Amino acid sequence: MRLISLFGLPFVAALASAAVPFKGCQHKVKESIHGPPRGWSRHSPAPKHHMLELKIALPQPKFQELEQHLWEVSDPSHPRYGAHLSKEETDALTAPHPETLDIVNEWLASHGLAEESLIRSSANDWVTIRVPVGLAEEMLDTTYYIYKHAKSGESIVRTTSYSLPEILHNHVDLIQPTTMFARFKAFKSTLHWGNQAQPPVLSTSTGTITGPAGNQVDASCNSSVTISCLKQLYNSVAYNTSATNGNKLGLTGYLGQYANNMDLQQFYQLENPSAYGSNYTFVSINGGLNNQTYAAAGIEANLDTQFGFGLTWPTPGTFYSTGGEPPFNPDMLTPTDTNEPYSYWLDYVLSQPMLPQTISTSYGDDEQTVPFTYATRVCAGMAVLGARGVSVMFSSGDFGVGDGDANPATQICYSNDGLNVTKFLPDFPASCPYVTTVGGTVNIPETAVFFSGGGFSNYFVRPAYQEVAVSEYLAKLAPGTYEGLYTPYGRAYPDVSAQAMHFAVVYQGQTIPVAGTSCSSPTFASFVSMLNDARLNVGKTPLGFLNPFLYSSGYTALNDITAGNNPGCGTQGFNATTGWDPVTGFGTPDFEKLKALVLSMP
Ligand SMILES: *[C@@H]1O[C@H](CO)[C@@H](O)[C@H](O)[C@H]1NC(C)=O
Ligand SMILES: *[C@@H]1O[C@H](CO)[C@@H](O)[C@H](O)[C@H]1NC(C)=O
Ligand SMILES: *[C@@H]1O[C@H](CO)[C@@H](O)[C@H](O)[C@H]1NC(C)=O
Ligand SMILES: *[C@@H]1O[C@H](CO)[C@@H](O)[C@H](O)[C@H]1NC(C)=O
Ligand SMILES: *[C@@H]1O[C@H](CO)[C@@H](O)[C@H](O)[C@H]1NC(C)=O
Ligand SMILES: *[C@@H]1O[C@H](CO)[C@@H](O)[C@H](O)[C@H]1NC(C)=O
Repeated sequence: MRLISLFGLPFVAALASAAVPFKGCQHKVKESIHGPPRGWSRHSPAPKHHMLELKIALPQPKFQELEQHLWEVSDPSHPRYGAHLSKEETDALTAPHPETLDIVNEWLASHGLAEESLIRSSANDWVTIRVPVGLAEEMLDTTYYIYKHAKSGESIVRTTSYSLPEILHNHVDLIQPTTMFARFKAFKSTLHWGNQAQPPVLSTSTGTITGPAGNQVDASCNSSVTISCLKQLYNSVAYNTSATNGNKLGLTGYLGQYANNMDLQQFYQLENPSAYGSNYTFVSINGGLNNQTYAAAGIEANLDTQFGFGLTWPTPGTFYSTGGEPPFNPDMLTPTDTNEPYSYWLDYVLSQPMLPQTISTSYGDDEQTVPFTYATRVCAGMAVLGARGVSVMFSSGDFGVGDGDANPATQICYSNDGLNVTKFLPDFPASCPYVTTVGGTVNIPETAVFFSGGGFSNYFVRPAYQEVAVSEYLAKLAPGTYEGLYTPYGRAYPDVSAQAMHFAVVYQGQTIPVAGTSCSSPTFASFVSMLNDARLNVGKTPLGFLNPFLYSSGYTALNDITAGNNPGCGTQGFNATTGWDPVTGFGTPDFEKLKALVLSMP
């Protein structure tokens, strides 16, 4: 074992002005919250031997430079459009300052944590350590408690405040799990809306009706959505993707959601027989499994893989299963408390030299349950993916402007900032300005589905690309509308939308109807993947981060949704309108129009 001595470490020379920097250095509060979010209550102090996997984010001093690259390479009117960055380039642009690495190493070493016990991200911007609660409490001058969730009975080890030696404050962005209570949920809601009358799973209606692109589509698509329906509705029936042009679609799974291969094959037989017998690549991250027992099949994972891979077949698919997430079971013998799993997924994908050009995720939680600093860093990771040329889609959430803990008509939404005032509750990562967020529609003609998550971030300001569209929407609101309930200058979402109800999914051998913006995100992503396919076929670059394109010209090739609203927090929510709105964004894809547009771009 390496002897832990401040003076024996080689970098001390570089810090001559602070020979023993942590001795006598005052701890100062780094981050604190007013209390746990609604639903959580504090129980006993956490056992001292309980293991925590702490992730330490080191500042990325060149992030603004990275962001500048992102805007340039994603803007179709910029000369650098499509000049996406390599892994080496983004690693260099997200690396911490060498002095930061030195001083943090020294701090860790002073607590007995030598280099070989540290896990570092590809850009060295995250350090992960595994420590018992007792040591974490000493390092962070805090006390960890077990918190229980009233409704689910789940437990979690957290604190409401932590401190760091003052000298470290500018060298550490955040350390979690400390104050983070997020429980990322899958945005699928078959069961949530169980009191709604359910149509038959596979519709028997015959004949045709007019779809959003003006073409005739099967009338059955109005009550049961299949692969064929989506291709008809979104105008891609005549398009075949390639298996061999290098295009790939990635889908993510978390929270023990497993994609069942038998269900997938049964689905293919029913909804896309040409895909029958095909498979996808499975990638396990942080111990993520893909348990093939029928009983372990997940509706969310089945939905994502069946519709995502089914729509884009024969494009090769990748399913990422990321393990490790709260809540944990404190009664288990060797439980380890971790963060939400996005940061593990990001660590993994950002360490890969090659990535799928299109990735969809259908998981999220209330923005306010994710500490601002953490949300900022995870969102920065999404910017890196964009700079690398990946189109990243997230579902917008299933609770309108609210948080879904009660009937949307009567629910009251509380802020968790100590003021406990009524507020709309935006979702994260849907609210991150570097992702494309997908809301939900229903029926033909399409209207906004009532649960479509939408609104305005309280963390991220409105990015320039949506300035015009969102100002136009806000100008249409009657003066004083929902004043104080939302942040009008926040990043507004969703950006786009797609069908979100009556999806015919095979689950444990049965076809069941599934609803949620979990349906919308893989659907929209599939059409984006087809656009990437078309561009790769003619030697163009993939589309990368979509929003600068969508808000400058892409919106003209979407079907504008102008009816419906997304109630919540005791209000009727926002209305879908002509142009962009915080219920359906710019609307649903018209593939042929989009294809013509993206093939006309450099
Ligand atoms: C589709 O279904 C909705 C809801 O049942 C109905 O209002 C609408 O008229 C139907 N569309 C067509 C074209 O029949
Ligand atoms: C797409 O594939 C189908 C089935 O193989 C074929 O019949 C059709 O002609 C193809 N369409 C185009 C545009 O290549
Ligand atoms: C599909 O791929 C998964 C993971 O790569 C593998 O476990 C499974 O056996 C494959 N299924 C078939 C039918 O080939
Ligand atoms: C797979 O899931 C089943 C059903 O939930 C469970 O009994 C089994 O232990 C799991 N297998 C593994 C390897 O986790
Ligand atoms: C917030 O206010 C509501 C109603 O005024 C109350 O029911 C709730 O307990 C309060 N929550 C906290 C954390 O004070
Ligand atoms: C939505 O539309 C209804 C009907 O036109 C109107 O009464 C309501 O004020 C609108 N709500 C918002 C938030 O614009």
